[in-house]
Amino acid sequence: MVKEVFNPWEVSGDIDYSKLVKKFGITPMKELPKIFTENVLFRRGVIFAHRDFPRILEAIKNKKKFVMMTGLMPTGKFHIGHMIVALQMVFYQKLGAKVYIAVADLEAYNARNQSLEESKKIALDYISNYVALGLDLKKCDIYFQSDRSLEAKKSNSYYRLQNLLARHATFAEFKAVYGEITPGKMVSALLQASDMLHAQLPEFEKECPVVVPVGIDQDPHLRLARDLSKRIKTNKFTQLSSTYHYFMPGLDGGKMSASIPTSYISMEDSASEVKKKINKYAFSGGKATLEEHREKGGNPDIDVSFQYLKFFFEEDDEKLKEIEENYRSGKMTTGELKAYTIDKINSFLEKHQKKLEKAKKIVREKFA
Ligand code: TRP
Repeated sequence: MVKEVFNPWEVSGDIDYSKLVKKFGITPMKELPKIFTENVLFRRGVIFAHRDFPRILEAIKNKKKFVMMTGLMPTGKFHIGHMIVALQMVFYQKLGAKVYIAVADLEAYNARNQSLEESKKIALDYISNYVALGLDLKKCDIYFQSDRSLEAKKSNSYYRLQNLLARHATFAEFKAVYGEITPGKMVSALLQASDMLHAQLPEFEKECPVVVPVGIDQDPHLRLARDLSKRIKTNKFTQLSSTYHYFMPGLDGGKMSASIPTSYISMEDSASEVKKKINKYAFSGGKATLEEHREKGGNPDIDVSFQYLKFFFEEDDEKLKEIEENYRSGKMTTGELKAYTIDKINSFLEKHQKKLEKAKKIVREKFA
C-alpha cells in the first residue's frame, strides 16, 4: 500500500476524486456547448469539474476577450500525461483565447531543489512538445517565472503583484490551504497567484476572464489566488475560472510521474520501448486465465491500456465503445487490447516525433 500524500507538490496513493470535489467545493462539469464536445477531453469527461466556468462560456459566446493561463513544472521527461494540458492550450488558442504559459522554474528551485539552468533545458523540451502538438508560438505569451519580461513595466507589475498579495495572506490561511509549508513554498504559492492574476493588470490584457485548467492537486493555489485577489483594492480582478482534469494513470495504475520511469510513456520513446512498457507494465483489468476472462470478462475501468485509448489515443467514439463492450464481455483479451493500444500509441508517436524534430529547432532559436 502506497502512503497517501496529496498536496500541490506531491501526489501518491489512491485518489478519491468525488471526495476531493466535495472537500474543495468545486462543481461537477455539466452539459457543454457543442464546440466543447468536439474536444475529446471534454466529451469523455476527462475534464470533470470546474469553478466559475460559465464565465468563460459567456466570453466565448459573446466573442469577448479571455485568457487561458497555465504553468509547467519543468521536472523530468515530457510524457503522454502532460498532453492533457498541452491539448487544452491548443484547443483554447483555436477558440480565440490569449494563452499565457509560465515556466515554473522558481517553483522548481524552491520546492524541488532544481537549478534554473536545468529547468530551462527541460522547459525547452516541454515547449517543443507543445509546438509539435499544435501550439502557435505567435499567439501565446510563454515566460519563465525567474525572467518575466524584457519590458520593465510588465516585469515590475508581475513581481509587484506577487508582493502586494503577500500582505493579504495570513500564516493560518497558508497552513489551512497547504498543510506543511516552507518559506520557499510560500513564495512559490504567491508567485503562482501572480501567474494566474497578472494577465488582468493594466500592463497586460486588463480586466478579463481567465481560465486555468489544472489537475485537482493544484486547487489550493486557485483557492488562495481567488481569495487574495478579492482583497486587493488597487486593481479589480474578474474572479478566476478553473477546470479540473483526471490525472493520466501511470502504467502501474497510480499517477503518471516523470520521476518513476516505469510509470510513464515518454513522447520520445521508440516503438519497441512502447511495446515493452505496455506489455510488461501496463496494469490490466483482465482475468488471471483466458478461461476465466472469456467467462467473466475484463474491467476496462481499471485497465490502463483502455484508459489511454479513452484519454485520447482512440478518437473514434464508436470504436472505443466497441472495445469497451468486447473487453467487458470477455470477447476481447488483454493481449488483444494491449496490441491495439500499442499500435495506436506508436502511430501517434511516429508522427509526433517527426514534428518534434522541427519544433525543437524553432524553440531553440526563439529561446536561445
Ligand atoms: N504549480 C504548477 C505545477 O506544479 C505550475 C504552475 C506555476 C502553474 N504557475 C502556474 C499552473 C499557473 C497553473 C497556473 O505544475
